[in-house]
Amino acid sequence: MKNELKIITKDWDKLNPLRIEDYIAIGGYQSLEKFISKLKPSEIIAEIKESQLAGRGGAGFLMGEKLAQVAEEKGTKYFICNLDESEPGTYKDRAIVDHNPHLLLEGIILCSLAIGAEKAFIYLNGRYEEQREILAQAIQQARKKYFLGKNIFQSDYKLSIELFSGAGAYICGEETALINSLEGNRGEPKLKPPYPVKAGLFGCPTVINNAETIANIPWIIKNSGEKYKEIGSISSPGSKLFILGGVVKNKGLIEAQTGITLRELIYDFGGGLLSGKEFWFAQLGGSSGRLLLEDELDIKLDFNKKNQYPLGSGSVLVVDKTVDIYDLMLSWASFFRRESCGKCVPCREGTFRLWGIIKRLRDREISQRDKEAMEDILWTLNNTTFCPLGKFSATAIQDAITKLGKDIFKKNN
Ligand SMILES: Cc1cc2nc3c(=O)[nH]c(=O)nc-3n(C[C@H](O)[C@H](O)[C@H](O)COP(=O)(O)O)c2cc1C
Ligand code: SF4
Repeated sequence: MKNELKIITKDWDKLNPLRIEDYIAIGGYQSLEKFISKLKPSEIIAEIKESQLAGRGGAGFLMGEKLAQVAEEKGTKYFICNLDESEPGTYKDRAIVDHNPHLLLEGIILCSLAIGAEKAFIYLNGRYEEQREILAQAIQQARKKYFLGKNIFQSDYKLSIELFSGAGAYICGEETALINSLEGNRGEPKLKPPYPVKAGLFGCPTVINNAETIANIPWIIKNSGEKYKEIGSISSPGSKLFILGGVVKNKGLIEAQTGITLRELIYDFGGGLLSGKEFWFAQLGGSSGRLLLEDELDIKLDFNKKNQYPLGSGSVLVVDKTVDIYDLMLSWASFFRRESCGKCVPCREGTFRLWGIIKRLRDREISQRDKEAMEDILWTLNNTTFCPLGKFSATAIQDAITKLGKDIFKKNN
């Protein structure tokens, strides 16, 4: 299929996630061996920089740049794999652990050693108990084979990986809140700067990357950054995991090249809409994502900063006209009302007030005053909150009003 790609999902059907031998049999840990026997840490970082791999956790920051900054720092450093994944409708990082935990471990080891860290953490979504168990076993197996621990591949490199489960708050996926949580503090964001690369975990330089970003690293080290750069979109190359849901025929996880269009994703990979369903819009990136209408189906999905439709977590929800838009809007508003960490007033109050208004909209009790207040609240959430969660809470509702507006309020008039 055009745009199909298997870098992260390669050989998933051949692997038992609980057997390190299966991963070794398909060439696993060869990139680590290559690093230990032939390459310097700076060469690993140069390769990742060359690949132009952008973070897959949402912000799209170039991974090689972060690694290079921390590699230059002296003293204790940390590497953290972000496996919080609390965005509704998203389970790509969990799927990596379910199918190939050693790919993730190999990526973590490569990145940690490249920056000079001797300790790495995997910050897990609190609900990922099964995945914690899989990873715990994988870590044990890797230690026994000397891929982890002291004297990795009989070298002087050492690394330990610790698993840490969060308590299930969405905000703890945000990197500074995640650090607070790992340090035993309340899970709420810190002011940036300083950024984690300068003052991260316990005040030490820290690289935090999304699990999917990290899972690309063994391939890049094996095949070169230049080869990776040839895949997909010119501005942000490589592979991307998408989660396709809603009224499509084939739902589920898809690995495709960046730059694929929404139309290709829905019709080529998803097999089109279920019979009798008429496309209304697609939501890109979970509850915090933007809505795209039929005439926007040909935009390219990548991490280009100029792209007005950020990929976010990579989930795609396809919605048809039979869906109750009020219920959907209320589910977005309820989610953010619950997940606002409460640190700043505009978000704490704004998400609560917005939820109340959407509830009245759903119950056909919305007043003119509510409609005016909604405008003010959305502006406040978009422009004045401490961290991006405030903006996230406004995005889909704002799009529903501006793009589906006539349809939405018609039912109330
Ligand atoms: C509210 C909020 C929630 C986030 N949740 C996640 C998450 O669950 N997983 C993740 O990898 N990044 C999440 N991020 C992004 C992280 O702050 C950070 O940018 C990312 O982990 C860096 O990794 P990457 O460069 O590989 O994407 C979140 C950001 C915000 C503002
Ligand atoms: S915007 Fe929301 S989540 Fe972020 S600090 Fe303020 S209250 Fe917390």
